[in-house]
Amino acid sequence: MEKVFENDFMLKYFNIIQALSRSALATPNEAIVHQIKRLKESLEKDGFTKEAKSLDALMESSESALDMSPSKIQRSFIALKGEELTHKTTMPVDKETSTPLAEIFFPNDLPEKAPIFDENIQLAIQTIVNEWKKFDELLEINATPASSCLIYGAPGTGKTHLAKWIARQIGIPVVLARLEGLMSSYLGTTSRNIGNLFAFANRYKCILLLDEFDAIAKLRNDPQEVGEVKRVVNTLLQSLDSRHEKGFTIGVTNHESLLDPAIWRRFDIQIEIPNPSLEVIIRLLKHFTSPLEFNESEIKFLAWCLEGSSGADAEMLSKWLKRAFVIEKGSNIVEVMKQFALLNSGRVDTKKRNIMLHRDEDFMGLLLNDKVFSFKQKDIASLFGMTPSNLSKHLSKFKDSEKI
Ligand SMILES: Nc1ncnc2c1ncn2[C@@H]1O[C@H](COP(=O)(O)OP(=O)(O)OP(=O)(O)O)[C@@H](O)[C@H]1O
Ligand SMILES: [Mg+2]
Repeated sequence: MEKVFENDFMLKYFNIIQALSRSALATPNEAIVHQIKRLKESLEKDGFTKEAKSLDALMESSESALDMSPSKIQRSFIALKGEELTHKTTMPVDKETSTPLAEIFFPNDLPEKAPIFDENIQLAIQTIVNEWKKFDELLEINATPASSCLIYGAPGTGKTHLAKWIARQIGIPVVLARLEGLMSSYLGTTSRNIGNLFAFANRYKCILLLDEFDAIAKLRNDPQEVGEVKRVVNTLLQSLDSRHEKGFTIGVTNHESLLDPAIWRRFDIQIEIPNPSLEVIIRLLKHFTSPLEFNESEIKFLAWCLEGSSGADAEMLSKWLKRAFVIEKGSNIVEVMKQFALLNSGRVDTKKRNIMLHRDEDFMGLLLNDKVFSFKQKDIASLFGMTPSNLSKHLSKFKDSEKI
């Protein structure tokens, strides 16, 4: 080819060549990489240095993406049977509505931060994770890790977060299905959806995460549906049995009492996640309010307001505090919490809420008399923006006026 013509040719087509290479490298294999290397070397030889470099850069970024791809993370699961899930794998759908039966999450899409629980729960969870991390070693001595786990407990306590975090620790993709999404009003479709979902999960190396597992139980409320319920529960039992030695299955529910005992028994491990203890609420508040800084009596006061609430409530309150303290830098924490109590009636205990929203003196008295939190006069004074001596004078004056 004549030089001038060659240059024109390159200018005209290189953008397309580059785009083609980029698309091919999105799902690279040895043959693709080999051909692009050949092209790069020819370009270099013919003096198209800039173009050769741009192909080099494409290959480099594809290599680093490859290093982070799920298949590289799955190194320790060589012995786990099944095909590899990729971003291209198609999910079966509900025949009636065409909605996918589940979502796929790769380890990098899952939460990195461990949920915060009491130490004993944290230790129990770590045991499950460790068993799966040693999967191949266990297999060498003919043992396998627990293959299923039911996580149950009050709403908003971090169960779904925990299930996803466990999956990230284990390091294989998750097939996440909300059972509600598999249910259909067409006779037989729910069972078919369950069957198809499990067939899909059994085909691939994955963790099957069944969220809102109790949805099946809701069918029972409909007397018309007795036959259908039986069919669905049977399918579910058979499907759960079919998961043995296929991969880890995690069920999550906050209505464990609605679960059929036979389903309950199918799970090797059952973990109850209770509402957070006082110590956990304090850790959650510190975690969620960061980078805002509260002193110990303020954190204790926030925990007092949230007593008996869930981790999700602590997260919600923290967002509220961030907004309040950004909009008005010098806000008083007691005033902010009164607003919170007023507009979040379900998140603050009714008795506490009524007193908080009534008279400050009653509010102070309630805090001072709290046996669990044992606030000192100086804590209350700093919360209400007073000096301790002003606070005691104020309270004694108030008591005197009450006597009149
Ligand atoms: N113990 C916890 N540690 C960390 N984050 C938590 C904790 N509890 C709740 N959260 C946070 O609260 C939110 C709700 O949590 P999640 O959805 O996991 O709760 P859940 O128990 O599955 O609730 P539900 O029963 O309503 O499905 C999430 O943003 C989660 O990160
Ligand atoms: Mg949940």
